Amino acid sequence: MKVEPAAALAGHFAVPGDKSISHRALLLGAVSEGETRIDGFGRSADTEATMDVLRALGVRVYEAGAATLRVFGVGMRGLAQPAAPLDCRNAGTLMRLLPGLLAGQSGTFTLVGDESLTLRPMERIAAPLRQMGVAIETTDGHAPLTVRGGEVRPTEYELPVASAQVKSAVLLAGLYAQGGDTTVREPLPTRDHTESLLAAAGARVRRRGNRITVSPAERLELGDVDVPGDFSAAAPFLVAGTILSGSEITLHGINLNPRRTGLLDVLERMGSNITVFNRRRIAGEPAGDLDVRPAQLVGTNVNAREVPLLVDELPLFALLASHARGDSVLRGAEELRAKESDRIEAVVDGLRRLGAHIRATPDGFHVRGVPARLRGGSMDARGDHRIAMVAAIAGIASREGVDVRGAESVAVSFPGFFDLLDSLRRTSSTS
Ligand code: S3P
Repeated sequence: MKVEPAAALAGHFAVPGDKSISHRALLLGAVSEGETRIDGFGRSADTEATMDVLRALGVRVYEAGAATLRVFGVGMRGLAQPAAPLDCRNAGTLMRLLPGLLAGQSGTFTLVGDESLTLRPMERIAAPLRQMGVAIETTDGHAPLTVRGGEVRPTEYELPVASAQVKSAVLLAGLYAQGGDTTVREPLPTRDHTESLLAAAGARVRRRGNRITVSPAERLELGDVDVPGDFSAAAPFLVAGTILSGSEITLHGINLNPRRTGLLDVLERMGSNITVFNRRRIAGEPAGDLDVRPAQLVGTNVNAREVPLLVDELPLFALLASHARGDSVLRGAEELRAKESDRIEAVVDGLRRLGAHIRATPDGFHVRGVPARLRGGSMDARGDHRIAMVAAIAGIASREGVDVRGAESVAVSFPGFFDLLDSLRRTSSTS
């Protein structure tokens, strides 16, 4: 897919519903009593994998509209043993959260994934679940995973890495723990959508400092969930609207959970011109509309503390930093090497080929920014949706355009990404 340069982006638009919340609403809806209605569902290859896996577990998921689902819950212990392995495809969130629920079912469940998911570390969920008495096996630390449902013991677990997925797996298993509460301690704040939806479904969950505690639950009832727009899907447009002089874009109904919006803070330090207005709550989460105008950027540093707040946006930070005046450094982000691709290598190698001055370090990158368009060329998404979107925005802001190799991977989180980008493109800043 060749992305030609544009002078500006202009328009008003929304983005798909939040992927993390969509997965969680489906999973919790599946073990709730009665019907859960999900509006604003973020339909993508990843969330469709969750729909299909739940259907294979005996849950009826009815598509009432393009972005509306009705999930008919089977109750806390009603998931049925499937005939075949559960295919999580590319969805790490599904593969890491579902075992928490499977721990409390009766039956044996095998989870498989695509090539990229099979390369990703799975002991990080297996270890705490084993500590809770769950019979879970990995294949040398990876998928395929096998979970045998049974008795679950309460635990207190300190996360070795700041991961919302691991935290969520333990909290979900904690719903089934017999005779006590389960506590997770997180080294740094990570996204808390699981906690919010659990509370909305009637579970007893509380946070004190960095400790999150859940009590065992007899029943959940999620009811209606209205999913806000995905900040991570909005992020490529925030970057494009900032670096393309003459842009005028407004994004509506975006999730602004402070554990997700680290990129906004980084953009602000770099001198961006983004206004948040119409602040409101959607599905119990802070949300709002965003006006984005171009700005001259200066370099900044991002350190370990901030990393979880923009973990999926760090490849975009590399692109922003390339367009800023001065140096930028990312540290403490070794986790990026364990995502859908090695995102440090993918973004550093990709942007360097387009003319950026960037080099990788073991836990991040150094960028020497030049406030001018990159030359362009070709960039390989390495099968990773977030890298494909970075390559596309690099293309639109380049002199010669970018040939995005593996562009189809955007469907993992944002199937309409290229159509939306095209509809916003302006060839002159006044057109
Ligand atoms: C996610 C958490 C993050 C993020 C991923 C989605 C989630 O992963 O990178 O895209 O929905 O909980 P980690 O929690 O493993 O960092």
